[in-house]
Amino acid sequence: MDDILIINIKELIGILPPEIKVLTGAELSKVKSLTKAWLHISGQRITDFGEMASLPKNLVESCKIIDATGKLVLPSYVDSHTHLVYAGTREDEFEMRLNGLSYADIAKRGGGILNSAKKLADTSEAALLTQSLARLNDVINMGTGAIEIKSGYGLSVAGELKMLRTAKALKNQTDAIIKTTFLALHAVPQAYTLNADAYVDLMINEVLPQVAEEGLADYVDAFCEEGYFSVAQTEQLLIAAAKYGLKPKVHVNQFNAIGGIAACVKHKAISVDHLEVMAAEDFNSLANSATIATLLPICSLFIKIPYAPARTLLQHDAKIALATDFNPGSSPSGNMQLVQSLACTQMNLTPIEAFNAATINGAAALELSDELGSITRGKRANLIITKEIPSLTYIPYNVGHNHVEMHILNGRVQGL
Ligand code: NIG
Ligand code: FE
Repeated sequence: MDDILIINIKELIGILPPEIKVLTGAELSKVKSLTKAWLHISGQRITDFGEMASLPKNLVESCKIIDATGKLVLPSYVDSHTHLVYAGTREDEFEMRLNGLSYADIAKRGGGILNSAKKLADTSEAALLTQSLARLNDVINMGTGAIEIKSGYGLSVAGELKMLRTAKALKNQTDAIIKTTFLALHAVPQAYTLNADAYVDLMINEVLPQVAEEGLADYVDAFCEEGYFSVAQTEQLLIAAAKYGLKPKVHVNQFNAIGGIAACVKHKAISVDHLEVMAAEDFNSLANSATIATLLPICSLFIKIPYAPARTLLQHDAKIALATDFNPGSSPSGNMQLVQSLACTQMNLTPIEAFNAATINGAAALELSDELGSITRGKRANLIITKEIPSLTYIPYNVGHNHVEMHILNGRVQGL
């Protein structure tokens, strides 16, 4: 593989020293950049960068040259919360909601997560892989270079394993970095309606050991919510998963504040995700905690629920990341650029805060900051070259457009 030299970069944005793993407080609103810059990639790594005035001549002779005149170069986005592996789509439920039904009404009628579970059961592993790979390539084209993928639509031993094996198989088909999460407790399947605890036991005693044995997951997750799983059931899962080395990343406070955040912080969760509905004690639990608050604004847009209170979280010194929650029900989009637009317009983040939350802090929410999330010598060469655009702010401003012209993952230009 030839070395790559990107020259004439209008602005190289997101430069960080290697020791910075996550940005907190006032640091989130700062970004370092170089104008009129170059960047050198050797193999899979960023080896060096600088201003055009200092470009070493020998590099020009030995590398494949990419001219980025008028274009920005950024670290790829890290989407730290998705349900990208799913079967079929649910636009019929979208229409039901447009006609006045709520997300909860639809779930009560056997729609929602249960609907996706039926579709998943009827789809072969090969077809699931094909559908998921198409979605993955789509989000790579929009700038996502690393992604978390959850199970949770299986709702059975075989179904959960099928989802996680599919997510694992995706790793061999892409240059994007994938981390997987066993979403053991997503919804109570109909057969267990009268005995949800038996379903919790099934996931803990039957599925969890197999997930660990096959190395299918990096993290564990539960939908800790009224009508889904209690704080006690969530904690039971987290304690069991810890014995297998699976750390928590948990769905909490999407519709109700039921004490899930304190429990997750206690169990050293890497992240707590959603946070649209927050009680005072939830902010206090996150104050100065290492647990990252992962915010999912497309979900708020799509099912018309409040946006997570990003500014109040920041006032409490919480660490925030932004992700898509890409799934067929509450967020049928994996567009990290749209996430940043919504973070600015609906959550009052600045464009720089949104950028940092979508890059280095997303990487931190997947424990990948050593490798990804910034322009840093030695990090993996996962880079976006934008179209000719005026500034970083233009990306969330020109809402709904794809500003990515070229995406380099692992030192390889994608789509070629
Ligand atoms: O993150 N909240 C739970 N799970 C998903 C939605 C699942 C679905 O509707 O399919 C979410 O929003
Ligand atoms: Fe989710």
